[in-house]
Amino acid sequence: METKILDPTEENMALAAETIKNGGLVAFPTETVYGLGANALDEDAVRAVYAAKGRPSDNPMIVHIARASDIGQMTRFLNPMIVNLIDNFWPGPLTLILNKKEEIPRTVTGGLETVAVRLPDNEIARNLINLSGCPIAAPSANLSGRPSPTAYQHVVSDLNGKVDIILKGENCRVGIESTVLDMTSDEPVVLRPGIITPEQIEAAIGKKVSIDPAIKFDFKKIEAIKNGTAEETIVAKAPGMKYKHYAPKAQMFVVEGERNRVRQEIERLKTLNEKMGSDVGVILFEEKAFIEAAHDFFASLRELDGRDVDLILAGALSDTDSVGFAVMNRMLKSAGYNIIRV
Ligand code: TXA
Ligand code: MG
Repeated sequence: METKILDPTEENMALAAETIKNGGLVAFPTETVYGLGANALDEDAVRAVYAAKGRPSDNPMIVHIARASDIGQMTRFLNPMIVNLIDNFWPGPLTLILNKKEEIPRTVTGGLETVAVRLPDNEIARNLINLSGCPIAAPSANLSGRPSPTAYQHVVSDLNGKVDIILKGENCRVGIESTVLDMTSDEPVVLRPGIITPEQIEAAIGKKVSIDPAIKFDFKKIEAIKNGTAEETIVAKAPGMKYKHYAPKAQMFVVEGERNRVRQEIERLKTLNEKMGSDVGVILFEEKAFIEAAHDFFASLRELDGRDVDLILAGALSDTDSVGFAVMNRMLKSAGYNIIRV
């Protein structure tokens, strides 16, 4: 298939919308990462998204809408908490898991009775949904297992020849995917951490927000499991422990500990490996620059891949900060949970 890589002119946007209407695939920018979109109500189109990404079909997709009022197409029931979240955070990087309406195909929801809904804070994305006249199901526009794309060039390198259109937008403002919040029970639960934090959500709704135990991590425990000195008690709960997500081509390690020691250890390992002829890439953010780290992390992985490095050494961020925790969630997965504690 020939992929058209297009500027978002009026004419091209009309073509992209027509493509979505006709069951085609269009990659588009959002404020978080680029998405690979299809008509959410067209099961064949949705299947084609799974195929293009090489994504397992039991991993559900987020449905993107252009107006908050369109949420009525997704679910039958909104409680005051949900309305409050929409007022406070939409458009923006917060995805809500809601009980789905029958009309939403299970192909989109990976067989679940719930649906993930999001109103993106990006003009091109909202225009595309509006012009298409249908909700757009879109996972991140990367090949399954690769870092999420935060620039259109990343999408081109993963999906050229596999999708109909790639819309050229700006680099993504946030850089990590939306916060996923399960709103199907009384207590909201964060299923995927993002730039919108549990504290912000709690402040908006005046209610405790919990974090899915499966995404919590503990460096000591992970190290012990890796060394074979502890039982894999947390592995079962966190499927991501089993395989790499967001993986760069190079072998990657996360170095964790007191800041100066981390810096020294990265320097030491870099020198050591370079002496052996390896090309070493380093990802080390400023200590408290969490938002910047979120913005840059996936792009850094792709840049180092582009340089064909053999080894990536990344400095851990503090996970007591909620955005730091969100970046660490991605960093640990990228490294396949390879950790060096200093
Ligand atoms: O920022 C984002 O969310 C980006 C942009 C394109 O909107 N999209 C994105 O989609 O990250 P994806 O498919 O890469 O990640 C969707 C996440 C997955 O972890 C999926 O398992 C979860 O949301 N998810 C989707 N529907 C769900 C549901 N009904 N219940 C629980 N988790 C769900
Ligand atoms: Mg993804």
